[in-house]
Amino acid sequence: MKKEEVVISAKDLKLSFYTDKGRVKALRGVSFDLYKAEVLCIVGESGSGKSVTAKMIMGILPGNARIDGGSIYYQNEDLTKVSEEEFHNIRGKKIGLIFQDPLSSLNPIMRIGKQITEALIINGDKVKRLYKDLISPALIKYKNAIQLRNLELDRLRSEFLDSRFEIRNNPDIKFVDGTKQIQALRKQLRIDLKKVMDDTKGNIAALKKVLDEKKVFAQKEAQAFKQGLVNAYKEKIAPLQAQLKTASGGQKKEIQAQLDAEKLAFTNSLRLTPAEAKRRAIKVMEEVGIPNAARRFRQYPFEFSGGMRQRIVIAIALTQDPDVLILDEPTTALDVTIQAQILDLVKKLQKNRQLSAIFITHDLGVVANMADRIAVMYAGKIVEYGKAEEIFYNPQHPYTWALLSSIPDIDSKERLESIPGTPPNMIYPPKGDAFAERSKYAMAIDFKEEPPYFQLSETHFAATWLLDPRSPKAEMPKIVSERIKNSLKKAGKVHG
Ligand SMILES: Nc1ncnc2c1ncn2[C@@H]1O[C@H](COP(=O)(O)OP(=O)(O)O)[C@@H](O)[C@H]1O
Ligand SMILES: [Mg+2]
Repeated sequence: MKKEEVVISAKDLKLSFYTDKGRVKALRGVSFDLYKAEVLCIVGESGSGKSVTAKMIMGILPGNARIDGGSIYYQNEDLTKVSEEEFHNIRGKKIGLIFQDPLSSLNPIMRIGKQITEALIINGDKVKRLYKDLISPALIKYKNAIQLRNLELDRLRSEFLDSRFEIRNNPDIKFVDGTKQIQALRKQLRIDLKKVMDDTKGNIAALKKVLDEKKVFAQKEAQAFKQGLVNAYKEKIAPLQAQLKTASGGQKKEIQAQLDAEKLAFTNSLRLTPAEAKRRAIKVMEEVGIPNAARRFRQYPFEFSGGMRQRIVIAIALTQDPDVLILDEPTTALDVTIQAQILDLVKKLQKNRQLSAIFITHDLGVVANMADRIAVMYAGKIVEYGKAEEIFYNPQHPYTWALLSSIPDIDSKERLESIPGTPPNMIYPPKGDAFAERSKYAMAIDFKEEPPYFQLSETHFAATWLLDPRSPKAEMPKIVSERIKNSLKKAGKVHG
């Protein structure tokens, strides 16, 4: 039913570290989908397996790691199975990784401009770039229109699925009556979907037409550009080749050397020149919000603040035109205002570049305004997964409640409750619900048997026995329900 494009699909990831103390079961069945142009946030305390998940996607696991199972699909390929060589074309190019500490990714004794241009030159096929640049504005307009339409279609579908779910779970509605209601809703859904398609068809077709024309034009331009270079090259080498035929001995060697030099110059002419690389580097610095980019181009990493360094690292990642950025606690070392600016930047890139992002943080509060979807991780598992609104307004797992309780209040700025206890030792992961030993909501079964995922909506899942119909009703902590009430009230006010 889903029309959104899945970019990365992780299924049942299991991974262990072999240490002298024993086998650390770091991932115990992690599954999630990353959708196109969406920010997925992975949230959980230190040690829950967030970074390991990122490293597994990137294929940069340490030597003592063993993959026990699972698959990570990206463009029809299972990243857990691709060869080291193939991985080179994906890692850092199609999928970029940003760490908490930008200094670890920057060379301290190289000017930042050079670090960015080097990255650009690695990816500097001029013909391809010319083509991409020429079609880029039209492509983005077209993609944005499709994205907007798909979001609307998806909203209608999830509304329908939610209603169907409610009807089916309402004990007061008889099954046959429910079926009738659902049939009526489905009929309406089809009408609504068709209306959205009809309303947007003209605009999308027009944008597609512009894009197709641009593609033809760009193809011609790129081809002409390349042909120009090829012709110039051929003209240059023709007399040399003629000489080569009649030359002998030492002369022959000399001519051959000239030919080699011409060939190298030709190959280089197809690549980005230093001057062009500089222009592009400054452009990407501006894109990530570095003021006075042209001047700062010549500075060293130590001359930048933490927030600016993180922007530089992001700029370097962007030189490769990635599909996906994975950001592992990129704002943790930064102060709150700078954090917010980096989050804004990620949001902007998501929109302008149609970039998908996995944003990892231990602080659920950080992601409130930027996450589309949230995966709450604990002890190597995702315990709750859903759209951001579902996690913030309808949280179900006691661990999510605990994380929400520990977010500093926006108004009072104080952190109200810290989570008692510590995460478990993953050499001996607890038997049932790993959070049980720290949770006042734990029931006997939580210590015995692992909870399955209970489904709350088409997009919302939680692994807690509290959702089993046989369990006694549990109320979320007051501090959480009060906050939800308050923010709903505030949101209501904003909308009038
Ligand atoms: N190289 C390693 N060797 C042994 N254990 C590791 C290694 N890296 C991570 N771990 C363990 O794996 C678990 C998950 O770690 P990690 O993904 O780094 O957590 P976080 O959620 O804080 O990013 C932890 O129990 C951690 O101790
Ligand atoms: Mg980590």
